[in-house]
Amino acid sequence: MSASDPVRNARPVTIVGTGSYLPERVLTNHDLEKMVETSDEWIRTRTGISERHIARDDEASSDMATEAARRAMRNAGVTPEEADLIVVATITPDMFFPNTACFVQDRLGARNAYCMDLSAACSGFLYGMDAARALIAEGSVRTALVIGAEKLSCITDWRDRATCVLFGDGAGAVVMRRADAGRGIMASHMGSDGALAELLNLPGGGSRNPASPATLDRRLHYMKMTGNEVFKHAVRYMCDAGQKALQRCGMTIDDVDWVIPHQANMRIISAIASRLGDCMDKFIVNLDRVGNLSAASVPVCLDEAARGGKLKKGDIVLFVAFGGGFTWGATVMEW
Ligand code: UT7
Repeated sequence: MSASDPVRNARPVTIVGTGSYLPERVLTNHDLEKMVETSDEWIRTRTGISERHIARDDEASSDMATEAARRAMRNAGVTPEEADLIVVATITPDMFFPNTACFVQDRLGARNAYCMDLSAACSGFLYGMDAARALIAEGSVRTALVIGAEKLSCITDWRDRATCVLFGDGAGAVVMRRADAGRGIMASHMGSDGALAELLNLPGGGSRNPASPATLDRRLHYMKMTGNEVFKHAVRYMCDAGQKALQRCGMTIDDVDWVIPHQANMRIISAIASRLGDCMDKFIVNLDRVGNLSAASVPVCLDEAARGGKLKKGDIVLFVAFGGGFTWGATVMEW
């Protein structure tokens, strides 16, 4: 174990409350059949997705983030004034600036918090938890709100059948604090590889290709993905990160009660389960009802599992995620 292993050095930090929010409107595979050349059968067998939630036109990421955060704070018994830090992981911020976390702060009345957004695509929530854990352990933050929130419907090309069937909208949140008892977050392993950025990105609207009639014409303001390439990397990096995080706390997959993976594709999840050790029964999946929620994927699934009574005190939970960048990460915690 290296000197920097959080399990040995840090004061334990844990999740004291969870919350999530999904927009009311549901878009089914049958609805998509009327929009692009696809079929319910193709979508279900190739991805595992049956339906996804889509935000209202007037509903932004910060609106969903605020509702998820309210629910997490209620669950934790924490008031907005107690939050010292708000992190919003998102690739669909309300605006370039101010950051989405500032909008959430204002809506919550969390006036004592400092606020930042974190852009790491589908790994954003785990990156955010890792940063919050370090700040809490170090002592400068007592209560952190970490939120994953996405309105992916607004960066989805509804003419591209290869991507538009995959994504949904929603938000999930956790409140993090020092643990009173137990081991809380035990270890993490995070990584990135910018060399493969072209396989999954949104090229238009930033400083590389500023918004112009030409970028609109070329549909550069929508997500682009080489799905089958991303698929292979997703399996490899999520397995590797999961194994490394477990090694850091001297555990194996046999010690794990539950795995909460980024929900991108049922075939990716099954491949990870079989590579980690034929352990599909430990995987918690909500992909069929929500689709791929990018940074909101892990916290929404976590909240559903926690509120549904699946996670019991003392359970060992492994989180794994992978996304554009590429970025990836894994975290082990005792619930
Ligand atoms: O969130 C983090 C990052 N994202 C991911 O991890 C997603 C990773 N990738 C995937 O999940 C899968 O690659 C997809 C679900 C996106 C695609 O599945 P695939 O098995 O890799 O299919 P493919 O892209 O190789 O395409 C196979 C065929 C193609 O037709 P041809 O060329 O074989 O005739 C596609 O045009 O399926 C066709 N196709 C569709 N057919 C019906 C692609 N999308 C659709 C569709 N409906 N929606």
